[in-house]
Amino acid sequence: MQNFQFHSPTEFVFGKGTENEAGFYVKKHGGSKVLLHYGGGSAVRSGLLSRVKASLENAGIACIELGGVQPNPRDTLVYKGITLCREEQVDFILAVGGGSVIDSAKAIAMGVPYDGDFWDFYSGKSPEAALPVATVLTIAAAGSEGSGDSVITKEDGGLKRGAGSDLIRPKFSIMNPELTCTLPPYQTACGATDIMAHVFERYFTNTTEVEITDRLCEAVLLTMIKETPRVIADPANYEARANIMWAGTVAHTNIVGVGREQDWNSHGIEHELSALYDCAHGAGLAVIMPAWMEFVYKHNPLRFAQAAVRVWGCQMDFEQPENTAREGIARFRRFLRSIGMPLTFDELGAKVEDIPALVEKFGIGDGRTGGFVKLSAEDIAAIYRIAAAPTLL
Ligand code: NZQ
Ligand code: ZN
Repeated sequence: MQNFQFHSPTEFVFGKGTENEAGFYVKKHGGSKVLLHYGGGSAVRSGLLSRVKASLENAGIACIELGGVQPNPRDTLVYKGITLCREEQVDFILAVGGGSVIDSAKAIAMGVPYDGDFWDFYSGKSPEAALPVATVLTIAAAGSEGSGDSVITKEDGGLKRGAGSDLIRPKFSIMNPELTCTLPPYQTACGATDIMAHVFERYFTNTTEVEITDRLCEAVLLTMIKETPRVIADPANYEARANIMWAGTVAHTNIVGVGREQDWNSHGIEHELSALYDCAHGAGLAVIMPAWMEFVYKHNPLRFAQAAVRVWGCQMDFEQPENTAREGIARFRRFLRSIGMPLTFDELGAKVEDIPALVEKFGIGDGRTGGFVKLSAEDIAAIYRIAAAPTLL
């Protein structure tokens, strides 16, 4: 195991009715004037936004609103939010929504105290200050409610890029699984896929002797395999929703990934798809993650065979562990299919002729990138081609 430092200061407030405590927690964490940030309307339609506003009012917290965050959130609304917060002297940002709303809130939080362009933080610069951010989560997916990450798309040029800092880890996250019962099955499945991908990006590692994090990863994956079909069949199943919601957080605070080298190439390769086609991140991952697996499994077939046996219930082929590895990847794809995810470029609406442009935008030139396997631009093109015509089904 490698040395590590793990800082996860978020206060998680989990369970039925907890959104009514939003005002109490804003006050507890020092907020007096809040920017209430939300998405395209689901939080308004469900009455959630009204309940949160009432809770803030009861606690004597002033608030202003900025809705309209789109999935794959854009820089244009972030600039608007930064100006608004400065004009109104906002000292706390409360995101009510999913990963997109939370990431937009985090971007605004870094931008407000910064003299330059907030996009600098999405081009490699580290922030030195940020307004405090908190969340009321409405979808189990991105894990942004517990992560120090934010992903924003620059409209001009369609660049989707990430920023990371402990400064933007939420102060608190309110997590009521009931709020996720209104999610359409497709969005639920996209979220589930993202959660599983967050674990796989950590699971496939060159670091040895990482039994504790291997087992934690496997626990999250097994939970998702059991609970996702239950909520697809019965969207109002509170207990299954609750298990998925907490799995989503555990998958991405990095508690399952500490002390091991990780590989985030599938996410990077996917981000080019959601930037170009504006597809859901989870749907893009359903197409890319198994394609990446198909491309890299030979690097360490035993690690893939371990996942196949422990997570997918495959029989170990001791003579040829590569067969077991391949069966595990095929079962992953069958699972994704069973929850309604796309598996190919075609099904996602992506085009083979765009592959050179996707690789170009990925932007590694003659370099290599990755943890488990270091990929060149040609390797990335090969992964897109596998995603267009997968063989392990
Ligand atoms: O905008 P509204 O009307 O709220 O609708 C949303 C949106 O259309 C809807 N929705 C959310 N909660 C709902 C609901 N509909 C009905 N009932 C509810 N309770 O769901 C749609 C998707 O929402 P979004 O916030 O985009 O989903 P998600 O949480 O999957 O976030 C995706 C974004 O997070 C980024 C992705 O790249 C993508 O941009 N990621 C962020 C990460 C992070 N910050 O740590 C890590 C991830 O790997 C990921 O890259
Ligand atoms: Zn993700």
